Amino acid sequence: MRWTSLAAGACVFSAVQLVQSQYVEETVYPSPNATGTGWEDAFAKASALTAQLNLTEKIFVVTGVQGPCVGNIPAIPRVGFKGLCLQDGPLAIRQASYASVFPAGLSAAATWDRELIYQRGVALGQEFRGKGANVILGPVAGPLGRSVEGGRNWEGFSPDPYLTGIAFSKTIEGIQSQNVQACGKHYIGYEQETQRNPTVNADGVTIEAVSSNIDDRTMHELYLWPFADGVKSGLASIMCSYNRLNETYACQNSKTQNGLLKTELGFQGYVMSDWGGTHSGVDAIMSGEDMNMPGNLGPGDSTVSSYWGYNITTFLNNGSVSESRIDDMARRILTPYFYFHQDNDSWPTIDLDTVLLNGGILRNNVPAYQHPFNFGNVSDMNRDVRANHGDLIRQIGSASTVLLKNVNNTLPLRSPKRIAVFGNAAPDSSGGPYDPENENGPQAVGGGSGTGRFTYLISPLEAIKQRNPSALVEYITDNTLLTTQQSSTISTIYPQPDVCLVFLKSFATEGADRTSLLCDYNSTEVVNTVTSSRLCPNTIVITNSPGPNVLPWADNENVTGIIAGHYPGEQIGNSIADVLFGDVNPSGKLPYTIAYQASDYNAPIVNFTGVNNNDPNLWQSNFTEGLLIDYRHFDYSNITPRYEFGFGLSYTTFSLSNLQISSNASNVTAYPPSLGSQIPPPGGNPALYDILATVTVDVKNTGRVAGATVPQLYLGFPPDTPGTTPPKVLRGFDKTSVLAAGQQETIRFNLRRKDVSFWDVVRQEWAIPSGSFNVLVGQSSRELPLSGEVTFL
Ligand SMILES: *[C@@H]1O[C@H](CO)[C@@H](O)[C@H](O)[C@H]1NC(C)=O
Ligand SMILES: *[C@@H]1O[C@H](CO)[C@@H](O)[C@H](O)[C@H]1NC(C)=O
Ligand SMILES: *[C@@H]1O[C@H](CO)[C@@H](O)[C@H](O)[C@H]1NC(C)=O
Ligand SMILES: *[C@@H]1O[C@H](CO)[C@@H](O)[C@H](O)[C@H]1NC(C)=O
Ligand SMILES: *[C@@H]1O[C@H](CO)[C@@H](O)[C@H](O)[C@H]1NC(C)=O
Ligand SMILES: *[C@@H]1O[C@H](CO)[C@@H](O)[C@H](O)[C@H]1NC(C)=O
Ligand SMILES: *[C@@H]1O[C@H](CO)[C@@H](O)[C@H](O)[C@H]1NC(C)=O
Ligand SMILES: *[C@@H]1O[C@H](CO)[C@@H](O)[C@H](O)[C@H]1NC(C)=O
Ligand SMILES: *[C@@H]1O[C@H](CO)[C@@H](O)[C@H](O)[C@H]1NC(C)=O
Ligand SMILES: *[C@@H]1O[C@H](CO)[C@@H](O)[C@H](O)[C@H]1NC(C)=O
Ligand SMILES: *[C@@H]1O[C@H](CO)[C@@H](O)[C@H](O)[C@H]1NC(C)=O
Ligand SMILES: *[C@@H]1O[C@H](CO)[C@@H](O)[C@H](O)[C@H]1NC(C)=O
Repeated sequence: MRWTSLAAGACVFSAVQLVQSQYVEETVYPSPNATGTGWEDAFAKASALTAQLNLTEKIFVVTGVQGPCVGNIPAIPRVGFKGLCLQDGPLAIRQASYASVFPAGLSAAATWDRELIYQRGVALGQEFRGKGANVILGPVAGPLGRSVEGGRNWEGFSPDPYLTGIAFSKTIEGIQSQNVQACGKHYIGYEQETQRNPTVNADGVTIEAVSSNIDDRTMHELYLWPFADGVKSGLASIMCSYNRLNETYACQNSKTQNGLLKTELGFQGYVMSDWGGTHSGVDAIMSGEDMNMPGNLGPGDSTVSSYWGYNITTFLNNGSVSESRIDDMARRILTPYFYFHQDNDSWPTIDLDTVLLNGGILRNNVPAYQHPFNFGNVSDMNRDVRANHGDLIRQIGSASTVLLKNVNNTLPLRSPKRIAVFGNAAPDSSGGPYDPENENGPQAVGGGSGTGRFTYLISPLEAIKQRNPSALVEYITDNTLLTTQQSSTISTIYPQPDVCLVFLKSFATEGADRTSLLCDYNSTEVVNTVTSSRLCPNTIVITNSPGPNVLPWADNENVTGIIAGHYPGEQIGNSIADVLFGDVNPSGKLPYTIAYQASDYNAPIVNFTGVNNNDPNLWQSNFTEGLLIDYRHFDYSNITPRYEFGFGLSYTTFSLSNLQISSNASNVTAYPPSLGSQIPPPGGNPALYDILATVTVDVKNTGRVAGATVPQLYLGFPPDTPGTTPPKVLRGFDKTSVLAAGQQETIRFNLRRKDVSFWDVVRQEWAIPSGSFNVLVGQSSRELPLSGEVTFL
């Protein structure tokens, strides 16, 4: 045990205990008080309100109760506090009627379009606000996507931390522009569903949740990176995750919460637990968890233990927790409520549809809950909050569509007279508005708490029919029929189509990791049946998936086009039709790598399911690949991907030229100026965000139709950067405007101090390595025609 001092300042008591050979349990106490930096007026109001609360009321603020929303902090009428309504999830207000279902985070990332990502956040914020939700449980930056099988990767953005960081912060800025609090989740190292929570085995032994064992540098440069961007953008709250880190549960991990988040990043908001993710009272409170969800106060409330509630009185009475810590928790929770004016009379009431969709009942127009909430009236129930968001959803959907193959410019389809449509992902859903796992229907979103409830869903088949009223549109959407009665069924298509469209899908959900990277429902046989039928030498395959698929039919001579459509939300059919028929020129780029075979990916989930063992610590996931995930692994191990990270075709062509690199500073130091013992403003040391170099490039549309593309900048760190550093990392991107044929635009990339630093584990600081950086610019991670160099030290 030793006393040490973090560069960022606070005194830390660091007990270093070995857990898995090289992994240690680090501890950082005490939990730093919020200072209100950036939120001064709101912090003063929150402090004044906290000072008025008696202990029971403070317990109400920090422990959830049963109520109308997914998470509930009750109102305290004595002091005029209206309570907090927390609602799922990252792509829709799930528990509500008349709300939109937006594209998933993955789709937002595939646009590589900061403005569209921001607008998606704005529209989400408007809908949550309209329903009276104070907090949206999103966006997601964890899972980041370490393992390709991760069941929730699609809820987040990309396995690249730079792309995710920008998408995460733009989403937060959009949501919070509507005075809705964002909750960035899940913090941290939550990279698999399998054994995400503890289980009890046949011998009655509690087997603990998987432990993500992550070294300090990997933590900073990959998993913490996007959270830092989010905190910098003013993120109101963060959800601690289910998994353990170096064998300590995330919600009672003092290193990640007190240390990394509240000290190093200067986070001023509150940490809430994932639902049931709290595993202790005193430990979790002292380690930085501020709000317990879904909670349970104690006698008279629900039956699930929260460890908190009225037990907090015991912790205070026996001296294991101080009232000043409880005050800090309450202030952290109340500050965003005031900052976003959620105390104001104009803040919407909770729509009563929330109650019914949460399985509650209305008695005499008053919901049956024991605590007071900010309820609306029956007269304004079922508020329609969708506005014109369907247009934005359609636009993001087409902007996120990635064109992977287009032999002889078979796409866009001009005006085909005969269209054949195949596959169970094409027709209307047969499972109702709230069944993302249905066999027949479009895969517009995934499952679990991050899903949405459709008020309408435009299927690809419907959109194709509407777009081509005079064409012959024939279809077979029963995959079993197609693959078991091959010749007889498909031969009913007549006469020969101009184009055959095959719609495939992959389902993924919270609670389960993917077990195959193939599309579902005998997809390979479906494609082979179609292409070998002699009817379809011009076959276009469209996938709707939660991330990478392996595409065994990609080289099939009759597959002339391939489109990755991701999870684009309620306008899925229109979004894809807009691209197929050329109303929109595709500009989406893969936010991940597509491999030739599943075994080309590294860092698989760990799976000890069925292993007969009574070791509570059986589930260890060593992140030994460090920084080398997704394209960094393919680059480092020299594996050729089928379609690389950042790749995506257009109906036109672009050329890049005139790379200019200017370093803004001549006397840069390796380390940012130290802040001494101060807690930094949100985001961490402000010097990390200083722009140290600027890179520009000219982009010209060299084809015949208008279109946009996304120039990308990758940095190769100098050779004497310590440790295993990826050959190159994404450090800049920007989508051009829609350029007319022949038109040119100059794109600018800003390199911040952080972008050119590595995490120095010895100094516990970001450090710029000496030597020359390779600056690589192009239109994908493997097509980088322009290069230059920049040196800081
Ligand atoms: C994790 O790493 C430690 C050594 O660093 C090793 O003892 C342990 O077996 C590893 N666990 C797994 C599941 O690979
Ligand atoms: C986990 O152990 C590694 C040492 O291998 C250390 O660098 C890291 O900070 C530890 N993380 C936590 C959360 O304790
Ligand atoms: C937080 O503030 C209280 C006073 O309100 C003080 O007693 C306590 O020591 C502070 N805690 C820390 C970690 O600075
Ligand atoms: C705290 O305030 C509540 C009203 O909000 C009241 O019902 C309760 O009795 C008070 N508790 C104490 C210990 O004063
Ligand atoms: C309070 O602690 C006791 C054990 O000390 C536990 O049984 C109970 O469930 C806890 N209360 C709540 C609300 O979790
Ligand atoms: C205080 O009470 C809690 C709950 O019963 C218990 O977990 C903790 O160990 C106690 N602490 C002390 C110092 O007695
Ligand atoms: C507060 O509410 C009033 C109406 O009740 C409105 O006029 C005012 O703009 C609101 N202020 C803020 C900051 O939202
Ligand atoms: C593409 O065009 C080339 C040259 O015209 C032709 O040889 C080839 O058969 C075409 N491929 C397809 C799939 O139509
Ligand atoms: C984990 O292993 C079990 C037992 O072998 C298997 O049924 C399950 O599909 C595996 N999970 C994943 C995600 O591979
Ligand atoms: C695949 O097709 C076989 C029959 O060929 C059928 O038994 C099986 O259920 C199908 N699997 C799926 C996932 O549709
Ligand atoms: C492609 O279509 C041609 C002509 O119908 C057929 O002969 C050939 O077998 C097909 N190839 C595949 C791989 O299905
Ligand atoms: C060098 O650093 C000093 C202090 O950090 C700063 O004021 C000055 O502008 C810098 N000079 C140049 C040329 O960047």
